[in-house]
Amino acid sequence: MKLCVVGSGYVGLVTAACMAEVGHHVVGIDINANKVDMLNDGGIPIYEPGLDKLVLKNREQGRLFFTTDYSVCADADAVFIAVGTPPDEDGSADLQYVIAAATTAAKHMPDGCLVVVKSTVPVGTTDAVAEEVNQVMQGRGVSALVAFNPEFLREGNAVGDFLKPDRIIVGVEDVASEKKLKRMYAAFNRNRDRMIMMDRRSAELTKYAANCMLATRISFMNDLSRLCDVVDGDIESIRRGIGADERIGSHFLYAGIGYGGSCFPKDVQALLATGEKYGVDLPVVSAAWQANKIQRQWFIARLLNVVKAKDVKQVAVWGLAFKPGTDDMREAPSIDVIDALLDAGVKVTACDPAAAEEAKHIWGNQITYQDSPEATCKDADILVVLTEWLMFREPDWASIADLMHGTDIFDARNLYVQEELAQHGLNCIAVGRGKSCL
Ligand SMILES: NC(=O)c1ccc[n+]([C@@H]2O[C@H](COP(=O)([O-])OP(=O)(O)OC[C@H]3O[C@@H](n4cnc5c(N)ncnc54)[C@H](O)[C@@H]3O)[C@@H](O)[C@H]2O)c1
Repeated sequence: MKLCVVGSGYVGLVTAACMAEVGHHVVGIDINANKVDMLNDGGIPIYEPGLDKLVLKNREQGRLFFTTDYSVCADADAVFIAVGTPPDEDGSADLQYVIAAATTAAKHMPDGCLVVVKSTVPVGTTDAVAEEVNQVMQGRGVSALVAFNPEFLREGNAVGDFLKPDRIIVGVEDVASEKKLKRMYAAFNRNRDRMIMMDRRSAELTKYAANCMLATRISFMNDLSRLCDVVDGDIESIRRGIGADERIGSHFLYAGIGYGGSCFPKDVQALLATGEKYGVDLPVVSAAWQANKIQRQWFIARLLNVVKAKDVKQVAVWGLAFKPGTDDMREAPSIDVIDALLDAGVKVTACDPAAAEEAKHIWGNQITYQDSPEATCKDADILVVLTEWLMFREPDWASIADLMHGTDIFDARNLYVQEELAQHGLNCIAVGRGKSCL
């Protein structure tokens, strides 16, 4: 099939490359001409494992191409909309990019073309897109089908998630859209039927429900972690204990510094805004959001207490990306932590294997960047570990202790064994590991 994918960001680029990989002819459209040039020249604007090879291979085999020109939609079987839906000032999703992308494509789309909204959008948006698109097409005496097909890929594992999805959620209002989507996804659906068909509104809510459920689990564990510190419990033991219960399961039970990234904070706020719009209280979702803010502030307050008490001059930070496997720094905990340290007049040296370039857009040369975790620690009074990249998992604590000026290690991801660090004279302040962490 001939597909156009509007938006060549984390979702759009992965969608375009994976759809080409299974044999479709795909054109990626983006308004950012630099991005398009880079992609056509064999480069890749984001860090996502395996994506560069997939893009290059499909470019070379002639199934994938990038442009800023929407007229390529003229012979498309389907047009995916995968542009951003960032939070507006009141937390609701800003839909201007989705509407602009869909209505611009509509100027060129042929009769019967299927618009597939992939961006995460509030309930009712796909209906509004259908109306706007068909209004634009009406002038040419043609019309389009419109479906919603949320994306569940995880940054850092996006190619694998797209090629082997747990489920493909499809929100449709007509049989023709359903048939087209089944054909488009046939290659992903061979050994078992992964497609779950529903109406468009339920599909829109399913995406928010998934992210808000996961955010709620994290917030619940974070609440308990703060209690653990005071009553001398261990959140890691509790995690293992409840995760073994099949009804609960072991995923998304890690206490830490509060969720970040481009999806959870944005989607939790957007669902709350939807509740407000329709006059429906969502106390659980609201608590998940409040708890996240409390956890982040609580971690930073503990850090600043030590900074003040010990007259700290220099802090090393391991990890800038909001999670391992990505260069994405949207809503990354590192932003709040480093801003607080800079405000306190502390010198910051940071290390991240993928996100340092992104970080330079935020802090420029206000902080120092190092490639090696060890070099980052030289003369540091405190080490703060914010992202659980593999390279930070098994440090040589003896040489870290030698290099550092101070002895405090703030472990925001509960990666380390406190007793092991203590053998090197280091004091590990983790999350929810008991009174020693207070
Ligand atoms: N990033 C994720 O992990 C993830 C996962 C699932 C769903 N989503 C959702 O997918 C959507 C896209 O997210 P993302 O992270 O890929 O965003 P992104 O910011 O990485 O990419 C968006 C791209 O769209 C382009 N764009 C904006 N307006 C355009 C227009 N009118 N025409 C053409 N291109 C345009 C931008 O230049 C940019 O390249 C969001 O709604 C997000 O919530 C994201």
